[in-house]
Amino acid sequence: MMTNTNILLEAKNLSKHYTVAQGWFKPKVAARALDGVSFTLTPGKTLAVVGESGCGKSTLARQVVMIESPTGGELWMDGINIANADKAARKHVRPMVQMVFQNPYASLNPRKKVGSILEEPLAINTGYARSERMERARAMMAKVGLRPEHYGRYPHMFSGGQRQRIAIARALMLNPKVIVADEPVSALDVSIQAQVLNLLMDLQEASDVAYLFISHNLAVVEMIADEVLVMYLGKTVEHGAKHQIFSRPLHPYTRALLASTPRIDPTQRQKKIILHGELPSPLAPPPGCAFNNRCPHATERCRVEIPQLLPFEGRMVACHHVAEIA
Ligand SMILES: Nc1ncnc2c1ncn2[C@@H]1O[C@H](COP(=O)(O)OP(=O)(O)O)[C@@H](O)[C@H]1O
Ligand SMILES: [Mg+2]
Repeated sequence: MMTNTNILLEAKNLSKHYTVAQGWFKPKVAARALDGVSFTLTPGKTLAVVGESGCGKSTLARQVVMIESPTGGELWMDGINIANADKAARKHVRPMVQMVFQNPYASLNPRKKVGSILEEPLAINTGYARSERMERARAMMAKVGLRPEHYGRYPHMFSGGQRQRIAIARALMLNPKVIVADEPVSALDVSIQAQVLNLLMDLQEASDVAYLFISHNLAVVEMIADEVLVMYLGKTVEHGAKHQIFSRPLHPYTRALLASTPRIDPTQRQKKIILHGELPSPLAPPPGCAFNNRCPHATERCRVEIPQLLPFEGRMVACHHVAEIA
């Protein structure tokens, strides 16, 4: 990929292998939840990460927001490799990357009023006086479409969509450069989803924040993404600009995901490719291409040789048969 001085965050071959106990007398095994994923985030742009449940999206999110430490690869931000940085360096970077979780019912402290939820990050990370914190919280509430009288209310008094607005406001309080949003609208009614997505897009335009937007829902991704990274069993199978991925998906897995997504545009409706079988376990990935047992194009080569992620027609694809499929 091109070197870009605008890069806010860069993941290089990022991996997270969990050690899992199998039972008392059995040896421990590695679950390759995240297995060598690379990408960059740039100001004002959204990279969407898509894939079925269990493919490693939340594991990726936890590494990027520094809830966990990766077991391999590099994660660069502000000239620091977070993956092996010391405590002081991590503390410097942490406020720059904030997270919005899927479930706004669980992610907001039910005992705190909206005002103190929003002021808390300022109290912890800045030396602002009480009055300054309050002013900033009130200004942020206006930006996310909350009313002034909401300041003194508790989270349970709000609808799901409004709670997600509170969570988004909290994530923005420290002017982060990156927001990681893990399925931020999946718990909301479909009618509310578009409102929250529009809010996220408006806030991005105003602040130039970069989003790492995680979703299993391609209809949502089509609305918000600039770039799309498709994951399968901890690995990237296809990565490119949104219009490339949506107008001409090349990896058989991307094609299957897209075919199972209802499309509004009838010219974009494709023949149904049904995904048979289940996502294999990251404890025992199949040899060769991890998708081979579900892939209509799989050959003997796919069952023995792991495909590398290589450039093809302006995007990256990991498939031995991409040329024939194209
Ligand atoms: N702490 C953990 N220990 C062991 N395995 C884990 C842990 N967290 C996640 N996994 C496994 O990693 C894989 C990816 O999980 P996850 O990142 O939650 O996927 P997604 O968010 O795409 O649904 C799953 O197989 C899951 O069981
Ligand atoms: Mg998840």
